[in-house]
Amino acid sequence: MSKLKLMTTYLRPAYLLALTAALFSVPASAQEHIHFDSTTHVFRIDTPGETYAFGVNAQSEIQTLYWGSPLAAADPLPTPAAYRSLSGMEESSNITPYEYRAWGGLNFTEPAVKITFPDGNRDLVLHYVSHKIDGDKLTITTKDISRDVFVDLIYTVAPATGVIGRNSVITNKTNAKLTIEQAASATWNLPHGTDYQLSYLSGRWAAEWQLTQEPIKDGTTVLESRRGSTGQQNNPWFAITRANTSGPHPEFPTNEEVGQVWFGALAWSGSWRINVERNQVHDIHVTGGYNPFDFAYPLAPGASLSTPVFYAGYSSHGIGEASRIFHRFQNTQILPQKPTPKLRPVIYNSWEATEMAVDYPGQAALAEKAARIGVERFIMDDGWFGQRKDDHAGLGDWYVNKQKFPDGLKPLIDKVHALNMDFGLWVEPEMVNPNSDLYRAHPDWVLNMTGRPRSEGRNQLMLNLARKDVRAYVFNFLDKILTDNDIAFLKWDYNRQWSEPGWPELGPDSDKQKTVYVEYIRNLYSILAELRAKHPKVEIQSCSSGGGRVDLGILGLTDEVWPSDNTNPFDRLSIQDGFTYAYTPQVMTAWVTDSATHAPGLPSTAYRFLVSMQGGLGVGSNLNHWTDDDFATAKDLIAAYKTIRQTVQQGSLYRLISPRDGSEHSATESVSTDLHQAVLFTFLHTTSLNYPFPRVYLKGLDPAKQYHVTPIYGTLKKDTPETASGSYWMNHGVDPDLTGDFKAAAFKFEAE
Ligand code: DGJ
Repeated sequence: MSKLKLMTTYLRPAYLLALTAALFSVPASAQEHIHFDSTTHVFRIDTPGETYAFGVNAQSEIQTLYWGSPLAAADPLPTPAAYRSLSGMEESSNITPYEYRAWGGLNFTEPAVKITFPDGNRDLVLHYVSHKIDGDKLTITTKDISRDVFVDLIYTVAPATGVIGRNSVITNKTNAKLTIEQAASATWNLPHGTDYQLSYLSGRWAAEWQLTQEPIKDGTTVLESRRGSTGQQNNPWFAITRANTSGPHPEFPTNEEVGQVWFGALAWSGSWRINVERNQVHDIHVTGGYNPFDFAYPLAPGASLSTPVFYAGYSSHGIGEASRIFHRFQNTQILPQKPTPKLRPVIYNSWEATEMAVDYPGQAALAEKAARIGVERFIMDDGWFGQRKDDHAGLGDWYVNKQKFPDGLKPLIDKVHALNMDFGLWVEPEMVNPNSDLYRAHPDWVLNMTGRPRSEGRNQLMLNLARKDVRAYVFNFLDKILTDNDIAFLKWDYNRQWSEPGWPELGPDSDKQKTVYVEYIRNLYSILAELRAKHPKVEIQSCSSGGGRVDLGILGLTDEVWPSDNTNPFDRLSIQDGFTYAYTPQVMTAWVTDSATHAPGLPSTAYRFLVSMQGGLGVGSNLNHWTDDDFATAKDLIAAYKTIRQTVQQGSLYRLISPRDGSEHSATESVSTDLHQAVLFTFLHTTSLNYPFPRVYLKGLDPAKQYHVTPIYGTLKKDTPETASGSYWMNHGVDPDLTGDFKAAAFKFEAE
C-alpha cells in the first residue's frame, strides 16, 4: 500500500466528519424548506406551521397531494397518480387536482392558462420537463406536449410564516406569434370535503371591507375586479375554513382561534379574478390571476408573460391566527421597509376640514393646532395645484396654484417643519380633468376608443399610463415636486375606474390594445419603484376614494393605505375589523374626524380616538371647531398612543368581540411580539336591558408573567386587581365598566 493511499484512508473519516458537521450544523434559518424526492417524484414544502406537497405523475402531469398541518419528514405521501375516470362524462383529466391547468384535452375545470395559436389551434396540455431548487425558490418548467410553449411554475416560501408565493411565466418559443387569452398565477387545491366555508371581503365606496362568510357549494364563486384596478367591490383576498362537521372536533366550528384555515391574496393592482370552485367530486380549487374578461396578450416568438404572485398560507388555529400570520408576512416580507417597517407617525390631514379650499393662512392655522396635540406629520390634501377650485378642473396640471399659495409651497412646508412636523402632499397622478392645460395639450393621452364617448367619473378621465410619454410625464412631475420641496410623504389618490380602455395610439389593427391591463399596472409599479429609489426618505400612501387600491402588489411599494372615506367612528369599527382579516394594522390609517354617527350628536372625542388608535392614528377634524376639552383629550390620547403604537401596528392582533352583525359590543387586543405589552380596546354601542358589558378574556399573553394594568381611557370594575398573571387575565378575564351609548375604554397591560 503506498504511503499516499494510506494517508487517504486514514484521513477519510475525519474529512467526512467535518463535511457532515458543516452540512448539518446550519442555523435553523438556513435550513432547506423545499425538497424533491427523485424516487417518488414528490415535491414537499415544509415550514414549522405547514406542509405543502405535490408531485409528477406517470403522465408527467403535476398534481397536488397535500396541504395542511406539518407532516413528519418520513411520513408516506401517496405516489402521484392521475385520478380514475368516473365515467365518460368525468374523465380523469377533469378531476385530477392539477397544480396549474391548461385549457386542452378533456378539461372543463377553470383553466389557469388558455392560448390561441395563429393556425387556429387552441389546445394546450402542459407536462413536466425539469425543475430547479434555489434556496427558498422552486422553478418547475413545463411544456406543451407538441408545441414549444413553456410555462414555468414558480414557488417561493417564507419559512417563518409558511406563506407560499406562486406565479407562472409563459414563454413562446415557437416561431410565430400566439395570443394568451387567460393567464392565472396559480391554482390552490384543498383536500376533499363538503364542509368548507368561504370568507371574502366586498363593499363599495364608503362601505369597504364587509366580511361575508358562506358555505362553499357545488359550482363557482367568482371574486373579481373588471375595473382596471383592485376595486372596493371585492378585495383579492380569500380564506377558506371548515365547518368541522367531519373533522376531528365537530363540536367546534372553525372560528377566530380554532380550526383549519387556508387563505391567500393576489399581489396585483389591476383587473383580477379569483375563482373558488367546488367540482363534481367535491374538490375545492382556488384559481387566481389576471382577469380573463376583455384580456388578450399577444406573445411574439421569444417573448414571455409573467403573472402576478398569488400568496397563500395555512393556519391550524382559526382565522385569527390566519390573519396574524398574514400580518407578520406583510410586515416582514412585503412592505417596502421590510423586515422592520418604521412606525406610522401620528398625522393630520386637511381633507375633511378644508376640502379643496386650501391656502397658506388656513393650512398654517391648522398646522399650529395639530402641532399642539402631538401630531408628527401634516398632510395637505386636494386643492393646492392648477386651477383646482372643485373637482371639475385642475387634475393633470401639477403646478402650485398662485392664488392659494402666492410664494409656492415653501412657506407652508417651512412653517410645518418649524412646528416639528414633517410635511405630506396629496397627488392624483393618473388622472386628468378635461378642463386642464394637460388635456387641452394632449387629448390623446387618455384611455379611449376612437370615435366613442369618453365617460367621465368624478369629472375626470384616466391617463393611459401604459404609454411611454405618459409614464415619463407622470414620473417627471412627481420627481420634480419631490426634488424641489422637502416632502416626507405622498398621499397617492385614484378616484375613478376605467372605461373605454382603448389604446388607439397602437393603431386600429393592433392586437396589442388589451395589453393595457398589464402594461398600465407595470408602469404604475415602475414609477413607484423609481421614485422610491430616487427619494428613499419619502413614504407613500395608496388611496383610491378610500380603500379601492389595497392589495399585496401596491403594498410592496407603499407604506400605508387609506381603508375608507367613511370616517364615522361606529361604521369604522366594522370597516377596520374586516380590513384586518386580510391586511396588517401597520398600514391601516385611521383618522379622528367630526363625522357623526347614526345616534344624535357626535360620539365623544375619546370614543373617536380609541377607534382610530387601533391603526395608524390620524386626525382629520376641523381643529378650528374644537373646544379646549377636545384639545386636552386629544393631547393625552396621542401621548398614550405613542406608548402603544408599536404593539398596535406590529404586534399580534386578537379580534376578541366582533362589531359585525349588529353586535352591541366589540373588543380588540394587540400583544407586542415580545409579549411584554398588551393593549385592550373595548366599545359599547348601546346598553340594553341594563346588561353589563360582557367579560373580556385576553389572549396571547405569557401565562407565567405578571402584568400590571393601567387605563388609557375609562375604568375596569372596582374589584379588578392592578397586577396579575397572564393566566389570570386570559382565564378570569376583565370587566370594562361601560354603560350607555357609544362608550369606549382602553387599557394597557405591561409585564413587570
Ligand atoms: C378621495 C380620498 O379618499 C379623500 O381622502 C380625499 O383625498 C379626496 N379624494 C380628495 O379629492
